[in-house]
Amino acid sequence: MESSPLGSRLYRSIVRPVAFLLDPEKAHYQTMGLFRLGLALPLVGAALKRSLAVTTTQEDAVEVAGLRFPHRIGLAAGFDKDGRWLAPLSNMGFAFVEVGTITPKPQPGNPKPRLFRVKADRGLINRMGFNNGGLDALVERLKHRPAGLIVGGNIGRNKVTPNERAGDDYLTCFQGLHPHVDYFAVNVSSPNTPGLRELQDRAPLTALLNRLQEYNRDQAMLRPVFLKIAPDLSDAQLDDIVALVGDTGIDGVIATNTTISREGLKTPAADIDAVGAGGLSGAPVRARSTEVIRYLRQRGDFAIIGVGGVEDGPTAREKIEAGADLVQVYSGMVYTGPGIVGECLAGLRG
Ligand SMILES: Cc1cc2nc3c(=O)[nH]c(=O)nc-3n(C[C@H](O)[C@H](O)[C@H](O)COP(=O)(O)O)c2cc1C
Repeated sequence: MESSPLGSRLYRSIVRPVAFLLDPEKAHYQTMGLFRLGLALPLVGAALKRSLAVTTTQEDAVEVAGLRFPHRIGLAAGFDKDGRWLAPLSNMGFAFVEVGTITPKPQPGNPKPRLFRVKADRGLINRMGFNNGGLDALVERLKHRPAGLIVGGNIGRNKVTPNERAGDDYLTCFQGLHPHVDYFAVNVSSPNTPGLRELQDRAPLTALLNRLQEYNRDQAMLRPVFLKIAPDLSDAQLDDIVALVGDTGIDGVIATNTTISREGLKTPAADIDAVGAGGLSGAPVRARSTEVIRYLRQRGDFAIIGVGGVEDGPTAREKIEAGADLVQVYSGMVYTGPGIVGECLAGLRG
């Protein structure tokens, strides 16, 4: 018997084959444009929502970092960088959506093509380079965010800002978004902004997080702060992260971002080499991301959002069993489609 919801079957048999004929970045915008249109039409929207089979009960709800989530499945950063699709994403059943990575000023990102499918491995390689419409445009959109959806703000620095002044960029985004988001993700782990990952070292990271926390504590409403880390950190670096969460009083960690590793892929090495630099996501990063979550959970008593290679019920469950409190997906939306929310929820209910 086919166990996945109708929406997932329709996505895999109709939408995905067509979308995969298009350039990946164009397909992203066109498919989401179609979903937005479909979900906004009363009859079609109701049928679409039914086909996605996302119904929740009290049992699915969790409290993490002081926020009450109707269930544990959210959309990872980078999918809706500019907060354009919050209404359709909420209608698809996501409990939370992380917008961004946003930078203070708009920037175009890297030259195209910069997003590639690694189909045989159910993965993606991207070197988008924080293309985004900038802080002010995002704030305007967030003023009209849908009720009931938890929104996280993932923040970074502009490409032209040197690491010595990175703190100013993060603080600008933190201050600007503070009234408009429910939590923050501090992104120091994208492989596509030169030098950014050096900010993951303990000293600059402690200084950066302390600066954000100082502002945070002065506000009427304290926003939970998560640090988003790379899967490529060594055990010693992960130990530093555990210590640093305690030192700075942030709420938790998002594990993980994309990897720079290309190990263990089925796709021929020549094809992978032809793609060039970028972060690899999807099924190939799943095991390492879960390993990082387990390592952190054994050593720290903070909130963990697990992300990396979640594409169905069992892979979502793996993250929770490793110690994650919440789960995010990105590449799974491309390969499984929006029915992924219902599939993951079913997997968590066991
Ligand atoms: C095209 C693309 C763009 C991304 N952009 C961002 C980003 O702007 N900020 C960020 O923190 N993570 C970004 N990510 C990483 C995802 O949020 C996620 O951590 C990673 O893809 C692993 O999850 P997945 O295997 O479910 O895709 C991006 C991923 C992809 C594929």
